[in-house]
Amino acid sequence: MKNKLLFLGPPGAGKGTQASIICSNLQLMHLSTGELLRAEVVGDTDIGKQVALIMNKGELVSDEIVLSIVRKKLVNANQAGWLLDGFPRNLLQAKALQTLLDELSQPIQAVVSIEIKDEILIERLISRGRTDDTEEVIRNRLKVYREQTSPLIDFYDQLGMLKAVFGEGDIEDVALRIRKVIE
Ligand code: AP5
Ligand code: MG
Repeated sequence: MKNKLLFLGPPGAGKGTQASIICSNLQLMHLSTGELLRAEVVGDTDIGKQVALIMNKGELVSDEIVLSIVRKKLVNANQAGWLLDGFPRNLLQAKALQTLLDELSQPIQAVVSIEIKDEILIERLISRGRTDDTEEVIRNRLKVYREQTSPLIDFYDQLGMLKAVFGEGDIEDVALRIRKVIE
């Protein structure tokens, strides 16, 4: 089973849900930049103070902050593998990640792109109710995804790493589809 994974997909696609399942089954480090940033906000740290407003608008936090968080986690990783969830979010982050993973000699083994219709993800997010799950902010997160993150689908496809997975239906069914593409 592949154990150096990256999950791509729009907000509400199920990246976090599916990443938790795989990481507990395969004992991988689950590296979610959204979760790490929310922990900074809750802890009211310097970084938390800088990012809270940006996150509540659904904009991207600066590459510099995100890259320093990810670098620290990957350099100090003590598990056999990892799963990146919600990172990278733009081409600059993707290229910086390639450089870092080259340094660490730990290439990505599969990029799973979770595909889902807008209506379904909007429904899912509104019923979850995180502070950035209001209709207005969700629409902005989707716009940011389309403009800045979705070009990564082609980027990883050209590197021969991309596995597209249909993200609608029961959580267990999606988990099985993902398992098949990371075998
Ligand atoms: P982040 O936390 O990454 O949020 P996101 O990408 O908008 O995605 P979500 O976490 O909302 O969705 P998900 O795909 O994980 O779905 P989930 O499993 O939760 O980022 C938040 C913010 O942080 C960004 O806007 C930005 O400001 C900042 N940020 C983060 N990373 C950054 C980076 N690299 N660079 C710059 N800024 C960054 O599922 C959603 C809901 O649906 C849940 O309630 C779940 O229970 C439910 N659900 C899941 N699967 C199913 C299913 N199959 N059927 C029914 N319900 C389901
Ligand atoms: Mg998430």
